[in-house]
Amino acid sequence: MRIDVFTLFPDWFDWFKTQRHVTNAMALGSSLECVDYREHTPLNWGQVDDTPFGGGAGMVLRVDVVEAALRARYGEDPVATRERRRVIALTPGGRMLDDGVVEELAAEPELTLLCGRYEGFDERILDHFCSDQLSIGRYVLAGGELAAMVVCDAVLRKLPGALGHVESAREESFSAALGGAPEYPHYTRPADWRGWEVPGVLLSGHHARIRDWRHEQSRARAGTGEDDSLS
Ligand code: ADE
Repeated sequence: MRIDVFTLFPDWFDWFKTQRHVTNAMALGSSLECVDYREHTPLNWGQVDDTPFGGGAGMVLRVDVVEAALRARYGEDPVATRERRRVIALTPGGRMLDDGVVEELAAEPELTLLCGRYEGFDERILDHFCSDQLSIGRYVLAGGELAAMVVCDAVLRKLPGALGHVESAREESFSAALGGAPEYPHYTRPADWRGWEVPGVLLSGHHARIRDWRHEQSRARAGTGEDDSLS
């Protein structure tokens, strides 16, 4: 998986790149690289945004600046780039990120994530350079960087070898293995703390009963206690 993030704040990702599942994914051949719009702007003094036509508050990321950055990275017209790789703009109104979307993205060989700032993108960027728009929730962030990090985090941890334990990603909240339901509760030592005891079944050593109990808990959390799709 090769991920390119286009941003005005590439150094925001320096910390993220040190996280264990990210370094694991990198060690296994994935990459996460940032492209700074400002380094490629054709305008003077590092200008990347402008006031909106028609008036209004805020600044809008310019289409010529985004085109220059995409061209510099991929050496072609960005209208062609989106035909051969997913070019995803992070926008508050985009398709909502969930486990299904993350699975879909994790199967891609290459991703491009475009972060907006200020009032967002000139609409022509979305219309002509992007294959998708993704949102991490119906609220407005100051920019797309944190949303891009959420996408990278969720996608990279799905890659084989990124997590220490293969099962951690297989049977987790909202996964197909749990029928899309939230994950069951976990407990660790001590088995009794202030009288708060771990459910006895988990200490029983009965793998089949533990599995059934966990799936039952997962279904109950989803509010689908009657659903037997997991058994
Ligand atoms: N950019 C600003 N707000 C956002 C959100 N909620 N999701 C994705 N990108 C964003």
